[in-house]
Amino acid sequence: MKRALITSATASQHSESPVWEGVIARYARYLPVSGATPIVTLKEGNTPLIRVPNFVHACGGKFELWLKYEALNPTCSFKDRGMTMAVSKALERGTKVVICASTGNTSASAAAYAARARIRCVVLLPHGKIALGKLAQALMYGATTIAIDGNFDEALRIVRELGETGKVEVVNSVNPARIEGQKTAAFEICDHLGRAPDFHFLPVGNAGNITAYWKGYTEYFSDGRIAALPRMFGFQAAGAAPIVEGRPIEKPETIASAIRIGNPASWHGATNAIEESKGLIDKVTDEEILNAYQLLARTEGLFVEPASAAALAGVIRCAKNHLIPENSVVAATMTGHGLKDPDSALKTSGTEPLIVAPKKEAVMKVMGIY
Ligand code: F0G
Repeated sequence: MKRALITSATASQHSESPVWEGVIARYARYLPVSGATPIVTLKEGNTPLIRVPNFVHACGGKFELWLKYEALNPTCSFKDRGMTMAVSKALERGTKVVICASTGNTSASAAAYAARARIRCVVLLPHGKIALGKLAQALMYGATTIAIDGNFDEALRIVRELGETGKVEVVNSVNPARIEGQKTAAFEICDHLGRAPDFHFLPVGNAGNITAYWKGYTEYFSDGRIAALPRMFGFQAAGAAPIVEGRPIEKPETIASAIRIGNPASWHGATNAIEESKGLIDKVTDEEILNAYQLLARTEGLFVEPASAAALAGVIRCAKNHLIPENSVVAATMTGHGLKDPDSALKTSGTEPLIVAPKKEAVMKVMGIY
């Protein structure tokens, strides 16, 4: 059955069209799609790469920092790149139900793409640990939303067991289609800069994204599109840093709820990316995360969620420790929008609106103008 919103992959194999048709249309030749793949897209990708000199100045660095602002995807996180692939492939196989465990963003994205494909979506969330905006998204897109009395790792275990029944398709990043879609962000960065960055900073949770970026960079390198590869620098939250500690964390804790994960599914992908690229995996405290979160908003007018700020906290730490040579070209992925987590923003800003009488004089008084 062909629907108006769903096209096939061959229509625009590696399209250079000035009209953006989503990551599958743009990068089809690097993706496992064919003319038989019904493309489910919300026109994800093509997100801005924004240079942030004020932020670099504030952290005392002397390098170029470019932020891949993935907040401007259709559901406001990077997950949409992987989800267009996962749901398109699920539809190609005739899947009727997709399922995922999530700290919030994967569930928002899965729910949206399933709605677009008109298939059922079931999401398992750690009860009480999801940012408000993300929960609102899953509910609005009509996913069957199940809160488990446990953490993300437990939810993912259940989802994987359900996947083995063959009755549902798992769209977490254990699904290889997700990694394929997400690697397109690395392509976009190289296309924009005309080269690969020297360093790429990322927050690490379930470790799918760092795996995907490294795959993207190495494929562009093999294809002769870039002459050198970046060093991959991943950052976990200090209370949820299994890869840094070298062991699963049973009760992970961090303010950055998106990366509150104790046993990442793509653990090996992350360590492989770090080893092959001569990169680094380290942890940053919640305090460092919140400091970077606010600093970015106030110096550059860019609002990201706390998990994204873990990468920025990593940049600050590396700048202080002189790990980034002068004039380096540095990229960092801003994985999700700040508006997804209004509670963290209100708490972190430390300010409240100034309430005044509805009079010009009253406003002037609080402005300090007399
Ligand atoms: N940043 C944000 C905003 C995320 O939502 C996630 C993961 C990450 C970073 C880490 O990426 O897992 O590929 O290492 N969120 C998943 C979710 C776990 O369920 O939404 P990763």
